[in-house]
Amino acid sequence: MAQQVQLLTTVEEFIKKPHQHYINGQWMPSMSGATMDDVDPSNRQVLTTVARGQAEDVQAAVEAAGRAFRDKAWRLMSPGSKSILIWRLADSMAAHLEELAQLDSIDMGMPIRQAQYGTIPMAIDHMRYMAGWATKIEGETIPVSAGAFFNYTVRQPVGVVGAIIPWNFPLLMAVWKLGAALAAGCTVVLRPAEQSPLSVLRLAELITEVGFPPGVINVVTGYGPEAGAALAANPGVNKISFTGSTEVGKSIMRTAADRMTRVSLELGGKSPNIICADANLKRAISGSMLGIFMNQGEVCSAGSRILVERQIYDQALEQMADYAKNMRVGSPLDPKTQMGPVVSQEQFQRVLGYIESARQEGATLVAGGDKMVQAGSGFYIQPTVFANVTDAMTISREEIFGPVVAVMPFDTVEEAIERANATEYGLAAGVWTENVRTAHYLAQSLEAGTVWVNAYHVYDAAAPWGGFKQSGFGREMGHHALDLYTEMKDVWISLQ
Ligand code: NAI
Ligand code: MG
Repeated sequence: MAQQVQLLTTVEEFIKKPHQHYINGQWMPSMSGATMDDVDPSNRQVLTTVARGQAEDVQAAVEAAGRAFRDKAWRLMSPGSKSILIWRLADSMAAHLEELAQLDSIDMGMPIRQAQYGTIPMAIDHMRYMAGWATKIEGETIPVSAGAFFNYTVRQPVGVVGAIIPWNFPLLMAVWKLGAALAAGCTVVLRPAEQSPLSVLRLAELITEVGFPPGVINVVTGYGPEAGAALAANPGVNKISFTGSTEVGKSIMRTAADRMTRVSLELGGKSPNIICADANLKRAISGSMLGIFMNQGEVCSAGSRILVERQIYDQALEQMADYAKNMRVGSPLDPKTQMGPVVSQEQFQRVLGYIESARQEGATLVAGGDKMVQAGSGFYIQPTVFANVTDAMTISREEIFGPVVAVMPFDTVEEAIERANATEYGLAAGVWTENVRTAHYLAQSLEAGTVWVNAYHVYDAAAPWGGFKQSGFGREMGHHALDLYTEMKDVWISLQ
C-alpha cells in the first residue's frame, strides 16, 4: 500500500457536511431540495452530496449580487479597503493551504504534491497580485479640442459577474475570475463544476470569515446545463466569464448575444510543442512530458501535439516512451504520485475512446494505451504516447484532455509552423531550440496566446493568459484581466 497523506480532520469533517449554496452571505439548500453526488475519481465512490441548483437558486444569487453591487458598503468602499479584503482572503487561503490542496486532490484527482506546491500556491499568489490592482485602476485626462472642456475617463466595474469554471483546476480557476472581478469592484455569482465543487465551497467559508459584505461573492452549485446555463441566461448578469470546452463556450456566446452580456472565454486547445534538432534534448523531453502529462493531461494548454525534427525523431521518441513508462501513476494523495486518475467516468470513456481511435486510424503505440487496473478501482489511464501520427488523425485534431500525446516528425521549420498552426485552436505552444533566431522566429509565427521557449507550463499572475482563434478571447492574468471586468466611461465638463 502506497504511503498516503493523512487527511486533515477539518477536511474529513468538511466533506461530510451538507453542501449548500452560498447566497447573500448565507448557506441555503436548493429551493427544490435537490442534491447531486460528488464522486471521488480514485475509487468511484460517492464522496459527498452537494446542492443541485437550478434557475430559481441562480436567480436568488444574481439578485443578491445585484443588491450588493448597488449597495454603498461595496460600491463606495475605498479601493484601499477592497485591496485589504482581497489580500486578507489570500492570507486565509495561505493559512488553509493544506486543506485546500487536499480538497482539490480528492475531488478531481490532482496529485497532492502538485496541489501543495503548484496549484494552490499559484492561486494564493494570484489573489495577492490582484489585491494590488484594486488601488491602481486609473483613468486618463483627454485634451479635447471640441470646445472648452475638461474631459476624463474612469474605469468602472461592469456589474454582476457570472463565473462558470471547469473541474480541472477547481480553486485556481475560481481565483482567476474572482481576483480580477473583485479588484475591479464587481460582485460575483460563481458556479463551480459539478465534478469538483468542494474547494470553492470551502473558499466561500473563508470569504465569510474575512468579512466581505454579504452578496459580493455568491456560490451556486449544480450541473452545467442547469445551473450553468441558467446563470449564462440570467438578465441580471452583466458579464459572463467562462472556462471550459469550445462547444459550451459557443453556446454561452450565443445566449449572451440576446442581452449583449459581456463575455470572456477561455476554451480548449490542441497546443503544438516543437522540438528542433538543436534542442537540449534532455530538457526538451522532460519539459514536453510535463507539458502533456501534468494534471493527467487535463489542462487546456496541454502540449498534446509534439512535432520533432526528423534527425532526432527516433531518439526523442525512445526517451519519451521511457519517460511515460516510468511515471508513477496512482492515488492522488500519495506524495510520490506524478499522475492521478482522470476526473470522471465520462472523461475516462472519452479518453479511452480517443486511444482506440488512434489505434484504428493507424498510429503507432509506443507507451501506455490502456486503463490501469493495478492502480486501483479509479479512473486511471496509462501515460500514453502515439508515434507516426498524421495531421488528419482524430488525435491530432481534437482536444483529448487526458494523458495521451501525438508525436510526429517534421523536416523544416516552415513546415513545423504551418502544421502547428493548422488547428482551430490557439491557446499555447512550446518551442525547444538552442538557436536564438529559430526561437524568436517560432515565437513570432505561432498562432497562440502563449509561447514557451525551452520551458512548458510556466504561469505567473502578472503574465497575460488566453487564446487566439477558437481557444477563446480575453486575457485572464496580468493587468489585462481588469479590462474584462471594467467599462470605460468618458466624462465631459464644460468650462464655460
Ligand atoms: P464542459 O465545457 O461541458 O464543462 C466546463 C464547464 O461548463 C463546467 O463547469 C460545466 O458544468 C459547464 N457547462 C456545461 N454545459 C453548460 C451549459 N450549457 N451552460 C453553462 N455551463 C455549462 O466540458 P466537460 O464536459 O467537463 O468536458 C468535455 C471536454 O471539454 C473535455 O474533454 C475538454 O476537452 C474540454 N474542457 C476544456 C476545459 C478547458 O479548460 N479548456 C475545461 C473543461 C473541459
Ligand atoms: Mg469530485
